[in-house]
Amino acid sequence: MKAPMITEARESLSIVIVGHDDSGKSTMVGRLLHETGSLPDGRYESIRDTCAQRGVPIEWALLTDECGRDRDQDTTSDNAHFGIHSQKRGYDLIDAPGEHEVVSKMMTGVANADAALLLIDAADGVGEETRRYGYLLHMLGIDQVIVLINKIDQIGHDRARNAAIETEYRAYLTDLGMVPLCVIPVSAQEGDNLVAQSALTPWYDGPILVDALDQFEPATLATELPLRLPVHDVRKHDDREIIAGRIEAGFLRPDDKVLFSPSNKTAHIATLEASRSDASLEAQAGDWVDLTLDVPLSVERGEIISRLDDPPIESDVVRAKVFWVAAADLRVGDRFGFALNTSEATVTVQSIESVIDPISLNTGAGERVSQNDVAEVVLRADRMLALDSYVDCRGTGRFALMRDDQIAGGGTLSMEGYPDQRALVSVKATNITAVGDAVGAEERTRRNRHRGGVLWFTGLSGAGKSTIAQAVDKALFARGYQVYVLDGDNVRGGLNANLGFSPEDRAENIRRVGEAAALFADAGMLVVTAFISPYRADRDRARAAAERLTGAHSFVEVFIDADLATCESRDPKGLYRRARAGEISDFTGISAPYEPPDAPDLVVDTADQSIDACVETIVGHVDRHFAIQP
Ligand code: ADX
Repeated sequence: MKAPMITEARESLSIVIVGHDDSGKSTMVGRLLHETGSLPDGRYESIRDTCAQRGVPIEWALLTDECGRDRDQDTTSDNAHFGIHSQKRGYDLIDAPGEHEVVSKMMTGVANADAALLLIDAADGVGEETRRYGYLLHMLGIDQVIVLINKIDQIGHDRARNAAIETEYRAYLTDLGMVPLCVIPVSAQEGDNLVAQSALTPWYDGPILVDALDQFEPATLATELPLRLPVHDVRKHDDREIIAGRIEAGFLRPDDKVLFSPSNKTAHIATLEASRSDASLEAQAGDWVDLTLDVPLSVERGEIISRLDDPPIESDVVRAKVFWVAAADLRVGDRFGFALNTSEATVTVQSIESVIDPISLNTGAGERVSQNDVAEVVLRADRMLALDSYVDCRGTGRFALMRDDQIAGGGTLSMEGYPDQRALVSVKATNITAVGDAVGAEERTRRNRHRGGVLWFTGLSGAGKSTIAQAVDKALFARGYQVYVLDGDNVRGGLNANLGFSPEDRAENIRRVGEAAALFADAGMLVVTAFISPYRADRDRARAAAERLTGAHSFVEVFIDADLATCESRDPKGLYRRARAGEISDFTGISAPYEPPDAPDLVVDTADQSIDACVETIVGHVDRHFAIQP
């Protein structure tokens, strides 16, 4: 990616404030607004006088209520923002509402924060909610945190009590791999250790809050990331298509060549207008823009604009971490609305890889995910999506799961182990005209006495695919079938010699074999393929290729089933042992995913059945479905 031209200094750091409902967030914000001289003239005095008249201590939270402004330019957000200044720089404090709202706000400003203030009520100690907030920050990648043990006055400025809370919470953060910048005993109400050292905590020798804030580092500027501009809206004006959206990452200039995903269309930017008046020559992350293209593309809301050399990946499978907030459990097979940037799709939960309790951090396998738990899941979408892993782009790598128009969970995308399918679904060649088959399928079938077709074996390495394929080959040949085996280990020495085991290479491996097998079938033969073929999407494409050429019922998906433990104990090539030792990366079942078939046409279980029994099952199926009776 080219280096951006924008070098102007950051105006302020954005800091999200989290803590359970009574931890004193509003009081903290109000007090900080006052102590840092960030309030409009007279505002403090009027609240002070009102409280004095009522004979109550100053209610700092009233200042917060009055001075908040909503600056998230997103309709779903109601995060309140407050500007404060230290000697060094400005801060944009984001007061995140309650816990479940924070999950929904993952779609908006919270995830973009540079750092966080996490409040613990000294009187209450570290509760479950406080732990979950820590987990949310960890999940959102906000790893710069100042922990404030608030209301220190309410525990009589007790050193031991403070130390106990600090020790407990530090231990929790350590388990998450997080180290707080500092843990400060404070009282927002009394002003202890905010802008001046408190005389009431002489035992505390760490930094006071404003000084600690100045130690935060700005997070990576979104302008330095690859361009991401989700299309928000498209409107027609004098025959021109005006595309509007907010740049989530990167920068954009007139004449730039851009790619739309997932539609895969390209064009040049003709005109560019940005919300910042000085940005007409270059708009950047955070700007709302109106743009036109040099050619009409009929773009739709939900597409992502990027550069050609660094686009999001395209996939109909989504791997993600989900923070589940709905009362009803999440289960395999459930369907949800999937709100990602400005796009919406429907997804089905394909698998729950692990369930994490954010309180205890216990992780295990699970069939269901209950409220307030976190899970690693694989979702299957009803169409191709443009996806960024959250670690690559926070602005576009997060989503919400919707049920009945309510947010049921919020999540972050982590696509490792899953391939970019863009290259698999786009045809590069132009000016091509297909020709027919002069002989024709019926004549081939009559001569061979059977239809052509594909017996697609899928399963883990060591499940017995090659062994059964060879045996089926022999048995079918003996019965007069025109049959041939395509085997992974062989094809990878020739046709696919240029492919390895990355997700993309595996997908391309299966794409080629799927097309080759379809050609064999079209030639009237039965072809047995023995490939792990770990991804459902690839196998579905192989089926589509065969059915496109040879018609329905020409593709038989055969699940060569044997559980991982069985395959690993067989370990015919010693590869599992080497994979466990870290000598082979991306090894299926160990460090790379395997998606078992959802509805295979045949299943043979090599852990329970003999090879002969498996072969008999498959040959019987072929006799019934492919042979032409005399
Ligand atoms: S696939 O995933 O792309 O379908 P394929 O069936 O062609 O895989 O090749 C799998 C064979 O390659 C295995 O049986 C094994 O012998 C070998 N192999 C080498 N490295 C790997 C790996 N990282 N994961 C799985 N199999 C591997």
